[in-house]
Order: sequence, then C-alpha cells, then structure tokens
Amino acid sequence: MKLWSGRFQKETDALVNDFNSSIFFDQRMYKEDIQGSLAHSQMLGDTGVISKEDVAAIHQGLKEILADVEAGKIEFTADNEDIHMNLETLLTQRIGDAGKRLHTARSRNDQVAVDLRLYLRSEIAEIKTMVLDFMDVLTRQAQAHKETVMPGYTHLQRAQPITFAQHLLAYGSMLARDVTRLEDCQKRMNVCPLGSGALAGTTYPIDRFETASLLGFDGPMSNSLDGVSDRDYVIELLSALSLLMMHMSRFAEEVILWCSWEFKFIELDDAYSTGSSIMPQKKNPDVAELVRGKTGRVYGSLMSMLATMKSLPLAYNKDMQEDKEPVFDAVDTVKQCVPVFAAMIDTMKVLPQNMLAAAKRGFINATDCADFLTKKGVPFRDAYKATGQLVYACTEKGKTLEELTLEEFRTVHPEFDEGVYDAIDLMNCVMRRNSHGGPSVAETTRQVEELKQFVAAHR
Ligand code: ARG
Repeated sequence: MKLWSGRFQKETDALVNDFNSSIFFDQRMYKEDIQGSLAHSQMLGDTGVISKEDVAAIHQGLKEILADVEAGKIEFTADNEDIHMNLETLLTQRIGDAGKRLHTARSRNDQVAVDLRLYLRSEIAEIKTMVLDFMDVLTRQAQAHKETVMPGYTHLQRAQPITFAQHLLAYGSMLARDVTRLEDCQKRMNVCPLGSGALAGTTYPIDRFETASLLGFDGPMSNSLDGVSDRDYVIELLSALSLLMMHMSRFAEEVILWCSWEFKFIELDDAYSTGSSIMPQKKNPDVAELVRGKTGRVYGSLMSMLATMKSLPLAYNKDMQEDKEPVFDAVDTVKQCVPVFAAMIDTMKVLPQNMLAAAKRGFINATDCADFLTKKGVPFRDAYKATGQLVYACTEKGKTLEELTLEEFRTVHPEFDEGVYDAIDLMNCVMRRNSHGGPSVAETTRQVEELKQFVAAHR
C-alpha cells in the first residue's frame, strides 16, 4: 500500500507505477537520505515536536537500515516510488509508530532537495581532488620539458616557437579555473532547503538553523518556495563539468593529433592505447577519443536540465525528478574521464626530437626575424614586409630562414647583419620570450611554482 493511499479509491496502474517511480536511479542517495532524516528527527526531538524516545528509535532504526543497505540486504521497490518512501516504509516496518512520526514537518520536496545537495556536494569534492591530481601530473611533465621546443600553432598552422612545458601549463591554468568553478558551485550549493516543507514552510516550531548546521550547511535557505524549486545548483554543476570536459576534449584532440604519424610528438604508453582487430600495425588513442566523445554526453546533460527547468512554475513539479539521471551520468562520466586521462598523460612518452624537427620547418621564427629589424629602428610594418619576402624566397629555394646567407638577407633589407642568426635561433626565440606568461624557462618555472601552490592551497 502506498504511503499516500488515504485519498485514493483505486490502485495505481502498473504502468504508472513504473513510470512515476525514481527508485532505480535515486537509490544512490540512500546515505544522504538517512543523513537528512537523522538531522531532521533530532531537530524534531530538540524542539519538542516529537519525543526523545521516538528520536532514539528513529536513529537506531535508520542506522540499522543503513548497515543493511550497505551489506546488500535490502531490496528497494518501485511500489514505494522513490528512495525517500522506500526508506520511510522500511523504518516504519521495523520500529512502528515512531517511524510514522519521522515525516512530521517535512515533505519529499524539501527532502529530495536536501539529499541531492548533500550528494552533489560530496561528488564535487571527489571530482576536485581528481582534477588537482591531474594538475600534479601536468606540473611534473611541464617540469621535465621546459626546454623541449615545439611549434606553437594558430589555425593549426605553425606560428611561433614555444616549449612543451608552456603548452601543458596552458591546460594547467584551465584546470585551475575548473577547480575554482567547482568550489564556487559547492559554496553556493551549501545552503539547506530542509524545513521548506512542501513549499510553504510549516506551523511546527522547527529549527532550520539546527538542521542546516547538523548537515554541515552554511545556513538554511531563505525562502521556502525557492528551497523546493531551485535546481540552479544542478545546472551550475553541469556547466562547470561541461567546461572541464571541454578543456579535456581540446587536450584529447591534441593528444590524438600528436600521436599520429603526421606529428609523432608523443607516444602513448601501451597500457593506455588499444590495437585494431584487423590492422596489426595500429596503436590507437582510444582513451583520448572517448574523453573527446564523452564531452558531448556531459553537454547533453547540461542542455537536458536547462530545458527541463525552463518555464516551470513555482514550486515543485514532478518534471524536476528528471534532474537526477543527467547529473548522475555527468558526474559518473567526469569521474571516469579525469583519472584515466591524467594517467595517460602521466605515462606518455614525449619525443622532443620530433617536436624540434617540426619547429624547424614552417618559419616559426619569422616574427623574430622581423623583430630583429624593428629593434634596429625599422618600422614594424616594413620589417614585416621584408621578412615576408624572405619567407617567399625560402619557399622558392627550399630553405629555412637560418639557412639563408647574409647576402640573401640583405637583398630585402640593408639593416640585416650577422646578429640575425642569433635572433632567429629557435632556442633563443623561445628563451627570450620572457614576458610574463611567456615560454622562457624563467616563466615556465614561475608557472609551475604557481600551479603547485594552487594545488596545495586547494587540496
Ligand atoms: N522522487 C521525487 C523527485 O525526485 C521526490 C519528490 C516528490 N514529491 C512529490 N510531491 N511528488 O523529485
């Protein structure tokens, strides 16, 4: 029999029973539901709404149920719709009337809201740790490649020389922002909807500050209608996770390019690549491709929740039960992706010779060549034009800029002298880019230190 069967004359249709129920996905919040009920009942006891004996029985019963769920001894049922009613029914079966008093001054509407906040709050903490671990991998790899020169790209065309450290540290900066976004989201999420009731609070003398503090929230939510209606925190988390995945998908795409024969800047460890069932030579970057692919799935969850919440009237609507599957899926997906991607980056073999060889082709020191003239007083536009003529000459002759003779340099501008060879030397080009945030060793050393400090401060 349903907990709410009093008003009804007929059994629920079997199709509706299944359709309506959320137990098969919300049962993962069993611990949080029990946690919320422990706090709620304690507060009811402290404010004299129920007796201390009832509180003791409820606590004892809930703790036993928790142990039984964890031991796999409990089977939830769609007949009891969701995790909230499954647990309440079990409790009442075990302790009788005290169990029936648990739901005093509470509704499933504030109950589900508190459960989900508690659940996501701890998932965020786990994800954050995973991202920080990934940042450790990046700083370690960057540390080892401060002098590994590679071409930097714009439009996927060789542009200017950088180091592999600088490239990795760019992702480090992105991940640092992802961490702060997760923290922001966790902070805003950390207010307690319990005590909002169905929507309009309650006439019982409850203490919302007590339950908020028992559950580790910063305080109770201010407005009861908002308390049960708000799913901003779900969308905000999905958006933070989408950005994290977006960053990883860009990195994944680069890994895929870098381990192709066209680039061969890296080689993935055997443990993090896969073979082909037909082509014996293949070593595929499946991990990177899956991370790239799963990004779409996380975006889908974000879109799904934005669409679900659009135009819903206040307060609770059953549509909102649809919040769980997407956000659980996104959380699970991110928790799968971050550690495996980090491990792949940790174990990859970097091929500095190939990076350098690529850097030598493509005239990535052309800006430095123009800058050489500019530093001699030649207006930048003239220097730019002269260098462009040199690049054209080089392509005609099949030469690189550093292979041109001084005479050849001088045919386009008289201000060229011997010093140009030093100015366009690739290592010099990189190391002299010591502006704040640049690829010089001094600057990548500073960035590594900064990221290390960030990780330590956010653990
Ligand atoms: N299973 C529901 C959910 O996930 C719990 C709240 C149901 N409240 C209600 N009045 N039907 O949203």
